[in-house]
Amino acid sequence: MFKPLDILDDKHKVLRQVSKEVSLPLSKEDKETIDHIITHLKYSQIEKMAEKYDLRPGMGLAFPQLGMLKRIIIIVHEYEEGKFKNYVIVNPKIISHSEEMVALETGEGCLSVNREVEGHVPRFARITIIGYDPDGNKVSIRAREDLSVAFQHEVDHLNGILFYDRIDKNKPFFNENEIRLI
Ligand code: NI
Repeated sequence: MFKPLDILDDKHKVLRQVSKEVSLPLSKEDKETIDHIITHLKYSQIEKMAEKYDLRPGMGLAFPQLGMLKRIIIIVHEYEEGKFKNYVIVNPKIISHSEEMVALETGEGCLSVNREVEGHVPRFARITIIGYDPDGNKVSIRAREDLSVAFQHEVDHLNGILFYDRIDKNKPFFNENEIRLI
């Protein structure tokens, strides 16, 4: 029986703390939490299920959003209509990135931010991220476009950073000549 996750919103100070590295392999409890997060994120992106369980759509979550200061991020990426790929990275590190920057045209959202925040968030167009899977095997992923943005957003959570911190208050929007909007 599925029960929606209790996700902390951004008034909670825990979201501003730096999470700690986790030892591997993960505990059974942490693996169960990961499975729960994957189901929640997937359902949230399927209209019928999102309605049924009253879920806001989201493709990523980091453990601190559940009040656990552990360096674990999860992304459920809809790479084609109705097809999802799950990414779980423990102790992630972005080891390289493109020069090119992009921003989501309609701005970013976050399951911990229950309101619209307008503005473009500059992100690297492409990154390579390394880390471990829940069993302790090394993983290395090259991500581009929206998936690259999602990884950067989730890694920020591990460092107490929220997406709106990266919006320039004096000039929240870029034009097409300044950054590629995706
Ligand atoms: Ni977020």
